[in-house]
Amino acid sequence: MKTKKRIGILTSGGDCPGLNAIIRAVVKYATLRGWEVYGIPRGTDGFIDFVHGKLNIEELKLHPHGYDLPGVLQGLDVLQFMSGSVLGSLSRGNPQEDQVTQDIIKGYEALELDALIAIGGDGSLDIIYDLAKKGNWNLVVIPKTIDNDVAFTERSVGFDTARNTVTQALYDLTFTAASHERIMVVQVMGRDAGHLSLHAGIAGGADCILIPELTPQLTEDTLVGMCEYIAQLRKDRRKFALIVIAEGVKGLNAEKDPYIAETLADLLKEKSHQLCSTGGDRYCGLNQIDTRATVLGHLQRCGVPSSFDRILATVFAIKALDLIGEECYNRLVIWQNGSVESKSLEQIMPMIKWCHQEKTCPAPVDPEDFMVRTALSLGIYLGESHYHPHTSNYPYTPLASTITNE
Ligand code: F6P
Repeated sequence: MKTKKRIGILTSGGDCPGLNAIIRAVVKYATLRGWEVYGIPRGTDGFIDFVHGKLNIEELKLHPHGYDLPGVLQGLDVLQFMSGSVLGSLSRGNPQEDQVTQDIIKGYEALELDALIAIGGDGSLDIIYDLAKKGNWNLVVIPKTIDNDVAFTERSVGFDTARNTVTQALYDLTFTAASHERIMVVQVMGRDAGHLSLHAGIAGGADCILIPELTPQLTEDTLVGMCEYIAQLRKDRRKFALIVIAEGVKGLNAEKDPYIAETLADLLKEKSHQLCSTGGDRYCGLNQIDTRATVLGHLQRCGVPSSFDRILATVFAIKALDLIGEECYNRLVIWQNGSVESKSLEQIMPMIKWCHQEKTCPAPVDPEDFMVRTALSLGIYLGESHYHPHTSNYPYTPLASTITNE
């Protein structure tokens, strides 16, 4: 077993807070072990640039405390506090062209790497796994994404910070919503998964949370259900409401809608006015309802990484290097039951690839998840599949009674 190793590291796919904390921990621990770390810029594109002589090896070598600050701040290890990725990232899709694939593989070989740490989400995992197979790489993958939808890990780096960001945004919006007695519709990221919306919606005091797992698309029933729910809130003296909608929820026509919050805000306004004038007494509370939409967008991928994300980033980094030290390759580092573990890529990739082919989210919110039950138990409207104002009593409590301490 070779004791001195040469490790490559790259970030791939959409960025998120905590990437730099992973890189920083990898460099620190590897250096302590006497290993070398090479940072591959812009995902796998860095390999191509290296092969084409656009980068030299010394430029790629990473050193602890290598990011000089002026004056007394020199030596300050700022990397763990910064979001983004110092290496840059790439989310270009599959390198289908054969020449591109060949160049990437040549880059790994030219750098004489013993192993590569790839930091990515499901999409990157899929692509880099194929490259690793073709190039016979020793790969370890660290999961990251604010969507928290990498399969087989309970947490991905970036999710916790994004959850805090969305929670804070909901808190902030509460006061303008209350001042104008408005219905605020907030669009939250999570391409196909509702984890971020569900968690932040609960923490941020949302009244309604629509996620693709429970509300795949808006329907007439969803709109009527929400209007009924809002009418009831108003009767209970809450004149404003916060509605969280995950970007993966489709419109009335079952199509993806990049402005789904705006669409929902307009539809709700229209429907509430219509019900108010024709629907009878129980809708009178909806009189002159006003709605506004906010798209939180890429702010959700920014911000100082939370302490949990920095810890997760760090333990994932250490685990990845330990695996490499044991020459235990082709693993996904995961977070499970409060601890760091790893899974064989060989075992998990067929399922992940199948999900991609079928355009199915590999780790959606489980409708039986405790967080779903928690939201329901608070009386949060989760769409027509869970809340039927026409047939049940408000507040919705049946599931709450099933929650035990066992
Ligand atoms: O997958 C992470 C994510 O932030 C999604 O939540 C979002 O839909 C997407 O990336 C946006 O990506 P882009 O960087 O292409 O705008």
